[in-house]
Amino acid sequence: MRTRLTDLLGIRHPIIQGGMQWVGRAELAAAVSNAGGLGILTALTQPTPDDLRREIDRCRSLTDKPFGVNLTILPTLNPPPYAEYRQAIIDGGVTVVETAGHKPQEHVEQFKAHGVKVIHKCTSVRHALSAERMGVDAVSIDGFECAGHPGEDDVPGLVLIPAAADKVRVPLIASGGFADGRGLVAALALGADGITMGTRFCATVEAPIHDAVKQLIVAGDERATNLIFRKFKNTARVARTPVSDKVVEISAAPDAVFADIAHLVRGADGRRALETGDLEAGLVWAGQVQGLIHDIPSCAQLIGRIMDEAAAIIGRRLAGLAA
Ligand SMILES: Cc1cc2nc3c(=O)[nH]c(=O)nc-3n(C[C@H](O)[C@H](O)[C@H](O)COP(=O)(O)O)c2cc1C
Repeated sequence: MRTRLTDLLGIRHPIIQGGMQWVGRAELAAAVSNAGGLGILTALTQPTPDDLRREIDRCRSLTDKPFGVNLTILPTLNPPPYAEYRQAIIDGGVTVVETAGHKPQEHVEQFKAHGVKVIHKCTSVRHALSAERMGVDAVSIDGFECAGHPGEDDVPGLVLIPAAADKVRVPLIASGGFADGRGLVAALALGADGITMGTRFCATVEAPIHDAVKQLIVAGDERATNLIFRKFKNTARVARTPVSDKVVEISAAPDAVFADIAHLVRGADGRRALETGDLEAGLVWAGQVQGLIHDIPSCAQLIGRIMDEAAAIIGRRLAGLAA
């Protein structure tokens, strides 16, 4: 399947593995790239920019295909050394970056100046257009279904993707809620050039997380998420677990402040949950698409299956309907 996205990135299939904190390591990114998609390392999963340099080298030793790095710009009081992470990406010869989060302008300019392609991931048409004005090469648009930060507008992909496609001129990637060939064909029909998946790639053989977390995703249905941080205008969609239920419960108090839940939502605890499989340890991030995930294939099996299913839908089902 050839789209503007496969042409832009030099990949075989229009499928991207989105940046994922603690999950986007070399094993997973290389497996996705080897299967013909675009695997993405997550910069801030590495404790220092030098660790990211080593992770980029490690990924390159596992695949000779293109892979990317996600740089998530968080609204924190003590920001990580973004410029140094950015330099590690540039020095590492990475050809494509997924930016996400607040005000990517400076990073976009620097990446572009060094010939790195930039995909900016956002959750609204207005932010997609502002990223386009900054000169990004592609825009990824995350619908309300997605794991992670769906924004505050609550517009699901079925409306957000075609609304973005009507206005965005650079290649458009649909993200949030995708897991199979039906979703890929739907995204293309809505005007996107490819898809990004997060949760689906967590439930694969190569995802470097504990099997209990993969089983949680397989067991979860489309209702198995919680929205948290809404009150603090930083909404996040996470798996429904005892920890996220507690966060919801505490946040429901009219006078609740962030300090009341801070002890439950620490990044290091989320990492512990992913690594040990102890779902009481911290937050696990996952989307509504859990309802479409029923197994734990390898990335090659998953991507092969998605492409076969998409081809069958286009070639048989839809062609039959048009006849
Ligand atoms: C475990 C996990 C961690 C994530 N961490 C990040 C992150 O650090 N930065 C980012 O831009 N997106 C992050 N995301 C969002 C994904 O890149 C992607 O946009 C989202 O998962 C798409 O929705 P889906 O899960 O329905 O496929 C994360 C998603 C998951 C499941």
